[in-house]
Amino acid sequence: MTDLVSPQLSVIVPSFNERGNVAALVAKLDAALKGIAWEVIYVDDNSPDGTWKAVKQIAAADPRVRCLRRVGRRGLSGACIEGILASSAPYAAVIDADLQHDETKLADMLSALREDRADLVIGSRYIGGGSADSFDRARMGISLAATQIAKKLLRIEASDPMSGFFMVRRDRFEGLAPKLSVHGFKILLDVLATAKGTLRVVEVPYVFGSRVHGESKLDSMVALDFLGLVLAKLTGDLVSLRFLLFASVGALGLIVHLVALYFFLNAIGLDFGRAQASAALTAMTSNFFLNNFLTYRDQRLKGFAFVRGLLLFYFVCSVGLLANVGVAFSVYDNEPVWWLAGIAGAVMGAVWNYAMSGLLVWKRR
Ligand code: GDD
Ligand code: MN
Repeated sequence: MTDLVSPQLSVIVPSFNERGNVAALVAKLDAALKGIAWEVIYVDDNSPDGTWKAVKQIAAADPRVRCLRRVGRRGLSGACIEGILASSAPYAAVIDADLQHDETKLADMLSALREDRADLVIGSRYIGGGSADSFDRARMGISLAATQIAKKLLRIEASDPMSGFFMVRRDRFEGLAPKLSVHGFKILLDVLATAKGTLRVVEVPYVFGSRVHGESKLDSMVALDFLGLVLAKLTGDLVSLRFLLFASVGALGLIVHLVALYFFLNAIGLDFGRAQASAALTAMTSNFFLNNFLTYRDQRLKGFAFVRGLLLFYFVCSVGLLANVGVAFSVYDNEPVWWLAGIAGAVMGAVWNYAMSGLLVWKRR
């Protein structure tokens, strides 16, 4: 068994519906990494197109190829983290499955780490020699703006912290891993923000290519993920974007409630008690839709789970209202200041609704 060598480099490939790109990428890695002991680990989120089957088929004949098939989970950052942590090689790279990143840069990136010139090497579109020509102008603008915001707010110096192409010393990554977020897309930004300048970074330029097979999975919600990450890192993981979204939906619910109340009283002619109850039901329903669409977009409920979630949400909010009124009364008893009591009650209700919704309605499966 002397010809068995442990890999020096693990190449982690997050994949979702990339079947048509698997064989080509493995062949390209083989050509680009001659003379290096490497392995490739696909982390596939149970792609409906059977990407994982394509990988495992190649893996059956090539021991350098592995596939981590994840079921019941989705997410680019989480996939990259699990892939890196599943390897034991001293160096790990992350590269997209769709051939848009330039695998011929991997050897240079590895040299920088091996020669101990860096702990992290970033494939950058925004330094001399790099580019993102395949981006349309809108996406280019958004990407550059987000990069500037991230650099200013989080004090990041790298020119392309949103890159999905990088290589890292595994020991340094293992140290950061417990603090990284598995949600969202911006794994490198998270690594840089969490490391707080303790990593030596080198950037290697590359040209972001265009996709041949399949389609991009990044939609407009990526902007929300980005904001969430910046917010969490700025506040030391204290304020979550989820809570802010949930609270905003709640505030909007108040407006919905008043409009509905007006409608039920004046247009339908219900008595006040019925109109108020109907308005509350309307507001809860619209809050549920909005939260399911926005706040918990990564765990969106569908079909039977949607109906069940809606009923549970009514229940949670009703108890939340009792908590709200209860707290408001007890504050008012001690300190008869109407707005203070009102705010205390509303905060109690919001926190209760948020905590219980996360526990009962949109619980992680
Ligand atoms: N396992 C897993 N789970 N993989 C995913 C998921 C997921 O939920 N979503 C996307 N991927 C995989 C895709 O299959 C692809 O290999 C890679 O992650 C990037 O997804 P794309 O949908 O192709 O993203 P993009 O091309 O628009 O943007 C990429 O390149 C940018 C520039 O480097 C991403 O890597 C961005 O983060 C990056 O900024
Ligand atoms: Mn892509």
